[in-house]
Amino acid sequence: MMKYLSIIRNCKVAQRWSFSHATCALSPSPSFSSKWNCKRLMVRRLGTDIPTEDRNYYITTPIFYVNASPHIGHLYSAVTADYLHRYKLLQGFNSRFATGTDEHGLKIQQAADAAGQDPLSFCTKVSERFKHLFKSCHISYTDYIRTTEERHRCAVEHFWTVLQSKGFIYKGNYEGWYSTQDESFLTPSQVGDAKDSSGKEIKISLESGHKVEWMIEENYMFRLSEFRSRLQEWLEGNPRAVQPERFHHAVLQWLQEDLPDLSVSRQRSRLQWGIPVPGDLDQTIYVWLDALVNYLTVAGYPDTHSQWWRAAHHVVGKDILKFHAIYWPAFLLAADLPLPQTIHVHSHWTVGGKKMSKSLGNVVDPLERSQRFTIDGMRYFLLRQGVPDTDCDYDDDKVVKLLNAELTDSLGGLLNRCTAPSLNPAQVYPHFCSDSFPSQGTEAHKGRAVDEDYHMLDAVRALPAVVEQHYESVHVYKALEAINRCVRQTNGFVQRHTPWKLGSGDGRDQLWLDTILHVSLECLRMYGTLLQPIVPEMADKLLSRLGVKPEEKSWAALDFLVKYQGKDCPFEGRALGPDTGVLFNRLERPNAEKGKPKKAKKATKVKS
Ligand code: MSP
Repeated sequence: MMKYLSIIRNCKVAQRWSFSHATCALSPSPSFSSKWNCKRLMVRRLGTDIPTEDRNYYITTPIFYVNASPHIGHLYSAVTADYLHRYKLLQGFNSRFATGTDEHGLKIQQAADAAGQDPLSFCTKVSERFKHLFKSCHISYTDYIRTTEERHRCAVEHFWTVLQSKGFIYKGNYEGWYSTQDESFLTPSQVGDAKDSSGKEIKISLESGHKVEWMIEENYMFRLSEFRSRLQEWLEGNPRAVQPERFHHAVLQWLQEDLPDLSVSRQRSRLQWGIPVPGDLDQTIYVWLDALVNYLTVAGYPDTHSQWWRAAHHVVGKDILKFHAIYWPAFLLAADLPLPQTIHVHSHWTVGGKKMSKSLGNVVDPLERSQRFTIDGMRYFLLRQGVPDTDCDYDDDKVVKLLNAELTDSLGGLLNRCTAPSLNPAQVYPHFCSDSFPSQGTEAHKGRAVDEDYHMLDAVRALPAVVEQHYESVHVYKALEAINRCVRQTNGFVQRHTPWKLGSGDGRDQLWLDTILHVSLECLRMYGTLLQPIVPEMADKLLSRLGVKPEEKSWAALDFLVKYQGKDCPFEGRALGPDTGVLFNRLERPNAEKGKPKKAKKATKVKS
């Protein structure tokens, strides 16, 4: 049955995508207009043809441990889920976006003890810090869950009872390694030798480097070992269930190894801070089982979850992949619930090549950085620089260089040039003249556009599909790279035709000047629309400056340069929006500039 459902699901997705990509790919050398039509059809299909239940989209972040304050890695998980949510909304989906805090378990119990606070007040304080960070960074979650909430306790108890009633939980003896830091049980092959700071021999988890301890306890076990082949079938039948591909392979590889039953409770005497096992107050539910169920709680489990649960997608860091791609699907299979549609995995942010940690003193504070580099600046940097497949090193200097180059100079410079009163005194969206920029082919030689201009149109026309493909697969850096490449091409177009030399009053020159500006503003409209999920505030500023109305900012409005098709352009002749200043202010380099006499540098000014 599962296999059948996944085939149907895959077919629907394939249908949806084949419409956009296959149609384009099938035409041998698609002309501007045939590629154009392909894109229009796809947008229309997304807008109307998808059954309502398939228009639901439910994206989650992992819920964050409250043992310490948020850092840049946490913000990265949240920004990744946030752009997916915003992107889906722009496409016309009903999207729901859940985040929150993971508040139970030994690690939190110990952190609260160390802080001399009762666990709940401790959790509340840190949970508020995450909430504050997310609100400050425009993380547009629709649901914020704390595992200490009553609704969650009910969901976990129900889930446990279902697993137990189906015979997947039994009482047994666990004897093995446990890492409190990771809240994880480990097999002997996952453990190695190390020395602590005082030179004492200790055992550590080979994966995380965290200390492990031997524990012997009577507790409840989950029959994980029974799920190996069903998990393999799921992954093999859904090659895009875990993305990127290398993590999909990693999970399949783990499934070839030892898969012992999993301990899913701890003795209450050791762990009080958690949800008691229903019917056995001497045991506390394992924090990962408790935490994973948060995704169902938000969806309305156990009463009203099915509508949203079928549309669930998770964003997770690579350190918690095993919990999400093995334990979680096994629990869900045991409970007869559908599996998540996608698990989007990302790698880690390091500092100076080392993992961020309090003890190394290299933790990057996301709130402070978003104040220094702006919220959109930080969002853009994380998504532009973060590569899901490999770890990325955080460096303030890199942030400044990247943002100054791509947002201040390239994009901001283009907007500034094309809206400057010296070139556009009437402050309107200028007219496009097809005699100046005729359709490619026989007419082209009569106009003033050159080959590179036609190449630029092709690139910008193709951009929405390229961006969509990379947004879908969470290769955001590739989408932003593609946008940035087009922005450079548009800057090249303006530079090539020196519109500031055309305003001499000659009628033909004026038509060409207007056409250059019209094409450039159309390009900017594309970039602004596509960038909304990444830098919402800045994209809004850009689109508002172009005079784009709120209802014209959706994905369906990604119709590029319709005048080139001989159709009416709703923007032509419309007043531009008010000039609210530089799109993205130039940032000072952190240390390199210190001590040097400062040369005042402004955002790129229009050449006139
Ligand atoms: N509480 C668990 C998740 C339970 S989900 C049912 C947890 N919490 S965490 O606070 O440690 O991590 C939350 C997210 O932040 C994870 O996706 C993790 O990968 C991510 N990051 C933590 N440190 C990170 C970096 N240095 N870089 C990037 N992301 C990392 O795990």
